[in-house]
Amino acid sequence: MKEIISCSAPGKVILFGEHAVVYGFPAIALAINKRARVSITEGDDELKTLFTPDLFPKKRFDLTNEHDAPTQLKAIFFLLKKMNMVDNLSNGQQILIKSQIPPSAGLGSSAAVSVSLAMLGTKISNKKLTLEEINKIAFQAEKIQHGTPSGIDNFISTFGGGVYYLKKSLERIDISKISFKIVIINTKVTRNTKDLVLAVKKRYEKNKEYTKEILNEIKTITEQAKTAIEKGMTEKIGELMNQNQVALDKLGVGHKKITETVNILRSEGAIGAKLTGAGGGGCVLGIFSSKQEASIAVKRAEDEGFEAFITEPSKIGARENEL
Ligand code: MEV
Repeated sequence: MKEIISCSAPGKVILFGEHAVVYGFPAIALAINKRARVSITEGDDELKTLFTPDLFPKKRFDLTNEHDAPTQLKAIFFLLKKMNMVDNLSNGQQILIKSQIPPSAGLGSSAAVSVSLAMLGTKISNKKLTLEEINKIAFQAEKIQHGTPSGIDNFISTFGGGVYYLKKSLERIDISKISFKIVIINTKVTRNTKDLVLAVKKRYEKNKEYTKEILNEIKTITEQAKTAIEKGMTEKIGELMNQNQVALDKLGVGHKKITETVNILRSEGAIGAKLTGAGGGGCVLGIFSSKQEASIAVKRAEDEGFEAFITEPSKIGARENEL
């Protein structure tokens, strides 16, 4: 399928501060070098279509018939309309969405698609929108997809690099001094973010002083981590990740598969390892100074029945790809 134009945007990992962020404390997220890619290609008939092989490998959706679209694609159809994209396509052209970011894993896959699609919309309509405007439009799509997202995912997908999120304000963090590989292991234990946030809330209401203490620990860890990232202090970042994991376990969002996979990462040489996202299952991550060690950790995780891959922090936000 010949690509005519294509845009892409990165996924993300939360490195510090999950759950505490719900109580007004900071969190840190990094863009990773796994991206969603949205292209316009030549189709093989006269229709204007949407093809999302990761979600619907066998179906092409007619773009002129919104009623044909399943609810999973609601946010995508919102963006197509918002950016007036269908009118700007020629008959026979197809919008193709492909992603390297595993879906429903807390890695920002939907935001990466939204941001790429919004950017593609500006390109084909010759609308000159700033990255800030693209970010805002993608945030609207994220709200359709997720209800009340923080905005971290679309922000990081748009701008790349790192973000320090505090009480709805998003500050970019310079990541040019850090250099490490990230191994992500999917425990494949499905979890529900809402339920986990609620479980922490119940714990907070039942045992306020103790829970506050843990949340404050996470706050201090995250603040120190910001400085460590800006200064490129990899060992310190790893140490803080390990401390953050202890605090998350105390909050009750651990899981035996999280402990198991974190231990795999540490025993294979991770400088630091912790869960990423809501916990209770989902993904864990570890940072490594060498690609070789990271590859061995991936292999070991796979041998033990998990899905795993290597990635790294990325400064590259949304962009038009060279064809
Ligand atoms: C989930 O990815 C991160 C949480 O902190 C929830 C949230 O921030 O909305 C657990």
